[in-house]
Order: sequence, then C-alpha cells, then structure tokens
Amino acid sequence: MSFQIPRGTQDILPGEVEKWQYVEQVARELCRRYNYQEIRTPIFEHTELFLRSVGDTTDIVQKEMYTFEDRGGRSITLRPEGTASVVRSFVENKMYGNPNQPVKLYYMGPMFRYERPQAGRFRQFVQFGVEALGSNDPAIDAEVVALAMEMYRSLGLKKLKLVINSLGDVESRKAHRQALIDHFKPRIGELCEDCQSRLEKNPMRILDCKKDRDHELMATAPSILDYLNDESRAYFEKVQAYLTKLGVEFEVDSRLVRGLDYYNHTAFEIMSNAEGFGAITTLCGGGRYNGLVEEIGGPETPGIGFALSIERLLAALEAEGISLPVSQGIDCFIVALGEKAKDESVILVNQLRQAGLSVEKDYQDRKVKAQLKAADRLNAKYVAILGDDELANQVINLKNMATGEQTEVPLNEFVQYVKKALE
Ligand code: HAM
Repeated sequence: MSFQIPRGTQDILPGEVEKWQYVEQVARELCRRYNYQEIRTPIFEHTELFLRSVGDTTDIVQKEMYTFEDRGGRSITLRPEGTASVVRSFVENKMYGNPNQPVKLYYMGPMFRYERPQAGRFRQFVQFGVEALGSNDPAIDAEVVALAMEMYRSLGLKKLKLVINSLGDVESRKAHRQALIDHFKPRIGELCEDCQSRLEKNPMRILDCKKDRDHELMATAPSILDYLNDESRAYFEKVQAYLTKLGVEFEVDSRLVRGLDYYNHTAFEIMSNAEGFGAITTLCGGGRYNGLVEEIGGPETPGIGFALSIERLLAALEAEGISLPVSQGIDCFIVALGEKAKDESVILVNQLRQAGLSVEKDYQDRKVKAQLKAADRLNAKYVAILGDDELANQVINLKNMATGEQTEVPLNEFVQYVKKALE
C-alpha cells in the first residue's frame, strides 16, 4: 500500500523550507517595527463563528469549509481564514478593556479551504495577517495597507498593483444595495443560479461572481462610490491622502468587493502583474470590518486588517526571478580516518556545536573520499581531517573550502581557531 499527499496540500521540504523561514522572519520583524504582537488561536473553531463573520452567502461558507462533527456532536470547522478567530479571541479575552488601544495583532499559520486546486490555490495554505482593533482613524487604514506593501517591497518585489475601494458605512451600503437590486432584477434570469439567489440576500456578492464576470450587466452596475454618504466619502478621501503622503501608490477600483461579508469602508487587494505569474494574481486582501466585534458578541469596536498567503508570495518572487538570501551550508565537516580518530571526532563535533557552529561528521562508515564528497554536498565552509598521524601529534588538518588553503591546527586550539576563522 502506498500513500499520497491529499490534493491541494504540499510538503515543504528542506531546500524549500529555508525560504519560508526567511519570509516568516521578515514578517515578524516588520510586525515588531509596526508594533503588532503575535496571537495564536486554534486551527479549528465552532462552525457558527464563521457563519456569523465570514457570512453565510459567501463561497467560503457555502462551498469551501472543512466542517465535521466531533465526537461530542459539536459542529467544528477548520479555520478558512484568521480574522474571525482573532475577533473571537479579542472578545473572549476582553481585549477591548486593554488600556493600549488599538489592539494590534498578527498571526501566521495554516488555513483550510476546499477549493479547486490550481497554481497558487491550495486547500491548506499559510496566511500571514494583521488586525488592528479599536481605532476609527483613517491613519490606521493607511498603516495596515502600507505594512502589507512593505512586506512585499522589502523582499524585492516590484511588479505590484495596489487596488483600493470603499464599501461605505451601513447607510451607504443600504442605498447601494437597493440600486444593485434595481439594476439586476429585470434581467436576473441571464445570470447564474448563485447570482439569482444572491439578488435578495446579498446583491453585492453578484459583483464578485466568477461565472458572470463578463456579463454586460456587471460593467454597467451601479458603483458604490456613487452611493457613499458624506462621512464615508470623507473617510475614504482621508485614507487616500495618507497613502499618498506615505508614498504608497494605489488605484481606486469601485468594483473591488472582496469575498467575505464583514467588510465596510476601506477594502484593498494587492496583485502581482509579473509576467508568468499565472491566472490568480491576488497576493493579499484586507479591509475594515466595523461591526464584526459586535456581531461576535463584543462591544462596538472598529477593526481593520489584511491577510496574505506565503504560497502566493513565494510564487510572486519566483515570477520576478528574485532569490532570497537564504544561508545554505554548514560551517565545518569533520572527516575521520581510523577508529581512534572516529572516536575523537565525536567529541570534536560536540565541542564545535557547543561553541555555536553548525557541524557534521560521517555516520555511514564511509571512506575518506566519500566523506569529502559528503562535506562538499553539505556545502561545508571548512573541512577538518583527522587521521591517526594527526592524532598522534595532537593536530588536525583544516581546509578552507573557498580558498583551498590548508592549515595544521593544534587540537587544543581547534574550536577557537575555527570559530575565529568563520568570523
Ligand atoms: P482573503 O481574501 O479570503 O481574505 O484571503 C487573503 C489572502 O489569502 C489572499 O489574497 C491570498 O493571498 C490568500 N489565499 C486565499 N485563499 C487561498 C488559497 N486557497 N491558496 C493560497 N492562498 C490563498 C481573508 O482571508 C481575510 N481574513 C483578510 C483580512 C484580514 N481582512 C481583514 N483582516
């Protein structure tokens, strides 16, 4: 019997995983500078949480959740995104009472969506996301967008497009909603079944339909920007002014609606327009979700955040031909010839490791030539050769693999010597 990895998932093997670690480190460092603190929530939650927050007319809830009944008969769902869990935790842990407001959090971890797998679309993927809860200042919207852009820029990505929109407040959305119904209703029969059921429940979702994307009714649909009330418009203008001040370039697209229901006011996406990136170009999405905290049972609290997947970020780097400066190779490989030298090498390897170096030796009883080959494959910066003769003279032969230079080093100075040589 043989087993295969489930569709839409991947093993991240050594050689590849270093890129992940590098990107994760960049994300953490960025969050430290912007003062976002890490939060870790469970990978599964009560299903109801996602119905309430993501929205029961969204694709995520209707088609993509990994939902099951646990042994206690509760409906459990593997998280399809991170915002719902963060907001649940914010409410449950009464973070709204924290004297430091807004509460600025970030997370990194696997999310699960039962989607049709293709390039850049997985069933398990890793999101890095941030959420800022408790502020209604347009400056925090600009901060969140700028942080997302800086994540990509600092890794060297250039071919990016930032698109922003405003979905307005409740009043603006209500007016827009009616305009959408009036627009689509007379010809709703021409749209797909999903859109027909969206018409009354959530007409804005129609604008996000993948099947009817090219229908002429889409291009002529009323724009939310024409329905923003004065307050919403002023808010959106302030966000744009801040972005401009921060030197963040953007485009306004009134058709950007996002695939989750909790958004209002600012919504944004970052795409890659690198050649060869593939059909799915959205790298990052986010927006404001005032009202979500109340929906989850907390006091009135505004919020904004974004999430991006590491999978798509790495794909964008590849499309732009950017290689990350991941360090490869070990500091030193110890080649031992003969029984006594072998015993001694066990101790030397340990001493070097205790001194903080990355060190390897042979465990396969290989001949010298094969040991040297192993050292080469591991990209060792130094190779130390210890034979019976060297042992008798209490020395070890050290070779700098970059220069080819060889030195005989007294055994009792070996650790300090290698350490110094590596500096
Ligand atoms: P989202 O647009 O559903 O938003 O996902 C955000 C990002 O996750 C996408 O732009 C994409 O990079 C990545 N992503 C989504 N699905 C997949 C997939 N199947 N495979 C690979 N990557 C994927 C959210 O999840 C919101 N929680 C974002 C947010 C945070 N809004 C406010 N705060």
